Amino acid sequence: MAEALEGLAREALDLGRAAAPSGKVATYIPELGRADPGAVALAIHTVDGDAVAVGDVSRCFTLQSVSKVFALAALLRGGDDGLWEHVRQEPSGDAFHSIVRLEEEGGRPRNPFINAGAIVVSGRLPGVDPAARAGVVRAFLREAAASGDEAFAMDEAVYRSECRTGFRNRALANFMCHHGVLVDPDGAADGYFRQCALTADVDALARAGLFLAAGGLDPHRDLRLLDAAATRTIVALMGTCGLYDEVGSFAVRVGVPGKSGVSGAILAIVPGRMSIACFGPALGVRGNSVAGLAMLEFLARELSLSVFDAGIAPP
Ligand code: DON
Repeated sequence: MAEALEGLAREALDLGRAAAPSGKVATYIPELGRADPGAVALAIHTVDGDAVAVGDVSRCFTLQSVSKVFALAALLRGGDDGLWEHVRQEPSGDAFHSIVRLEEEGGRPRNPFINAGAIVVSGRLPGVDPAARAGVVRAFLREAAASGDEAFAMDEAVYRSECRTGFRNRALANFMCHHGVLVDPDGAADGYFRQCALTADVDALARAGLFLAAGGLDPHRDLRLLDAAATRTIVALMGTCGLYDEVGSFAVRVGVPGKSGVSGAILAIVPGRMSIACFGPALGVRGNSVAGLAMLEFLARELSLSVFDAGIAPP
């Protein structure tokens, strides 16, 4: 199985490399603009124990919005009952950093994966300060990936770069504070910037996401990371809100829950089967990795991954 999977992963990689020149690296966080637009990598971990990684597998990237998945998991594991009073569970149809709907809707974010919602999640994590709260996200990632102490370290340069330029996120935090949706807007934004700057390579990211494909259990260890209901909540929100205003066409093209980040990472979850991590910093107009989308579309077709079809390969 692993050999067949690796063959498909290599074919997907070729498509990803071919797609990369059509995208552009994000520069609104200036340090992200230093990424190599031609870099492409892909890793797959299955619940049955197969694992493959192909392409520029040693490239480390910041998780950016993919960190929102693990921050939410860490928060829900702690049993935060009040989150859903402040953050809804609906797709926004807007860009990830949109402000307009927040004003229309009394400062209550549409979901925990747009920036506003993720800042609320970040601010509610346990910890005495923003560094400690980002440390909770990092600890969850390390536990989920069964990795060592050094893994998922924060990229200081990217963190500082977002601190210098993150006026829009601070505006969201301040606006929500005005509406009583969060307290300490500066601290919440800072913790959020720190979690977004946590780093991974594709193999570590796919491994960290595997519990989401297995109902909250690590299928390779006798370890429950999250209860089944919270896991379902996260995976469902990935499926409906994970790619912002591209989530509908992602459902059509790929058909599995996913979460993207402006660094060019995408984590895709195939419930009951596998976790797939893609990296390719060249982004399309909606801020999602063009190589990642091309690779996932190919894999979904070849492996009949879409949750919206009958699980039978089309003729
Ligand atoms: O808040 C921001 O703008 C970034 N730290 C993360 C945004 C992001 O990754 C959106 N994803 N596609």
